[in-house]
Amino acid sequence: MLRRNRRLRTNESIRSLVRETFISPNDFLVPLFVVEGKQVKEEIASMPGYYRYSLDLLKQEIKELWSLGLKSVLLFVKVPDKLKDNAGTEAINPEGLMQRAIKTVKDVAPELLVMTDVALDPYSSYGHDGIVNDGKILNDDTTAILAEMALSHAQAGADFVAPSDMMDGRIFEMRTLLEDEGYHDTGIMSYSAKYASAFYGPFRDALDSAPGFGDKKTYQMDPANRDEAIKETLMDIEEGADIVMVKPGLCYLDIVRDIKNTVNVPVAVYQVSGEYAMIKAAAEKGWLDHDAVILEQLTAIKRAGANMIASYFAKDAVKLIS
Ligand code: PBG
Repeated sequence: MLRRNRRLRTNESIRSLVRETFISPNDFLVPLFVVEGKQVKEEIASMPGYYRYSLDLLKQEIKELWSLGLKSVLLFVKVPDKLKDNAGTEAINPEGLMQRAIKTVKDVAPELLVMTDVALDPYSSYGHDGIVNDGKILNDDTTAILAEMALSHAQAGADFVAPSDMMDGRIFEMRTLLEDEGYHDTGIMSYSAKYASAFYGPFRDALDSAPGFGDKKTYQMDPANRDEAIKETLMDIEEGADIVMVKPGLCYLDIVRDIKNTVNVPVAVYQVSGEYAMIKAAAEKGWLDHDAVILEQLTAIKRAGANMIASYFAKDAVKLIS
């Protein structure tokens, strides 16, 4: 034998010299769930170890993230039932929970990048990402309010808005309004290839946002489709997206690589709530090594082509590698 591949695996020193993929604090977007109230830190039943925070306690969490070197958060709010309606009116309230959350984060850590979820589902009495009429999700009426929502987040100080709704044409609508209103520097991270996935279950528990009827298959993508992910992503870039996203993570790494090879904007991947829950459950049972599995999965997501990863494991990962 002239070639022995194991030479490059002899010990950790040589392995680290030839290693191709690294995880660092720079890789992460930290999803955060915010609720009304004071001194609230509620564990999410289907996401053990993950919490909803009221704004006062959110401050401490933000300080901790910043001290760990984590530089970006992705904000989600749990909206009280009495504020929900079909049009998601509360979503554009300048004094709404999201708008206050943005200001709270910026007060505590002005340099920390604030990204906000833009979609109607937490605000919708139907739990859908769009306005409902006669059992259908209306596209163009929804994109108009989503653009208003993006503007409202920008006015509150968001650095990036992150539309997760999958309506057609929403990026164009948002970009145009942001430009018209002078928010030239507010970025758009588009959930461009977002699949109708069963892995979002725990997230919908976290925000109490499960659809009241039907499912999301008329707007989110069919998990069977690959070419369509490219089409969606290229259109979002044409419409003005600065960063594109594939979601969920682990089951869709082929899509991540396809997109990475096709586009020249940064690609984000969302390791979603169901992926978190599976690892937590198996680890609780003693069936998987929690820490090893999270690092392996995050490395795999990055190796597939992710430039950044939204992950509920961000804090764990950063502590493990430090
Ligand atoms: C809502 C939204 C969802 C997620 C992010 N934004 C759920 C959905 O589309 O039903 C899922 C995130 C996760 O599961 O971690 N537009």
